[in-house]
Amino acid sequence: MREIQDHYFRQAKKENYAARSVYKLKEIQDKKHILNSGQKILELGAYPGSWSQYASKIVGPKGLVLGVDLQNRVEIIADNAPFVHGDVFELELELYHSYAKYFSGIISDMAPNTTGDKSTDHLQSVGLCEKALYLSLDLVKKGGFLLVKIFQGGEFQQFVLLMRKYYGKVDIIKPDSSRKESKEIFILGTNKKEPNLSENTQEEIE
Ligand SMILES: C[S@@+](CC[C@H](N)C(=O)[O-])C[C@H]1O[C@@H](n2cnc3c(N)ncnc32)[C@H](O)[C@@H]1O
Repeated sequence: MREIQDHYFRQAKKENYAARSVYKLKEIQDKKHILNSGQKILELGAYPGSWSQYASKIVGPKGLVLGVDLQNRVEIIADNAPFVHGDVFELELELYHSYAKYFSGIISDMAPNTTGDKSTDHLQSVGLCEKALYLSLDLVKKGGFLLVKIFQGGEFQQFVLLMRKYYGKVDIIKPDSSRKESKEIFILGTNKKEPNLSENTQEEIE
């Protein structure tokens, strides 16, 4: 297993990517073709920036990849990849809207600081996924997509059901580049059903 990780680590170094997690997004893109030229994408958990590097090349100069992370990213990735240093639980919708009225999709690789307690880590991960889903209801256009990373656990199926309520198609993907023993897995919702919902979105879900 370590060898596989070393392979992706070395590959990322060689290809000048900020992290080996880029290969997870790349595998999802190769299978599902979610990213396209000209799209405006919101990326949650965008530090150190390998997903931004990869996605900004695909969307090109007419597109945008707005990255957000708790950790500050000082390095400029590309002209079309602005970055906001902040907590998704605190940033206002207006901030996102100042970059785009609606986004084609949201990609989230957000992960909590792991505690070692699988149940706690799982619940925190679900909290991050729910936040990404709430944001997508207001920010992603009809027909758009949401990709989230989640640590599997007891609430997993419940969250998948919630995704199904708002996305026409929901796929669960475990990329080969993700460690087999890791609880992480990706959920991709495509064909978003509603154009956008009111500010009461969150209450509607709860
Ligand atoms: C696995 S890393 C993302 C790596 C990134 N996809 C890349 O390729 O460079 C997960 C990130 O989620 C961020 N994160 C966790 N909770 C967050 C929150 N509440 N708001 C914003 N970012 C958060 C962490 O700071 C961390 O940088």
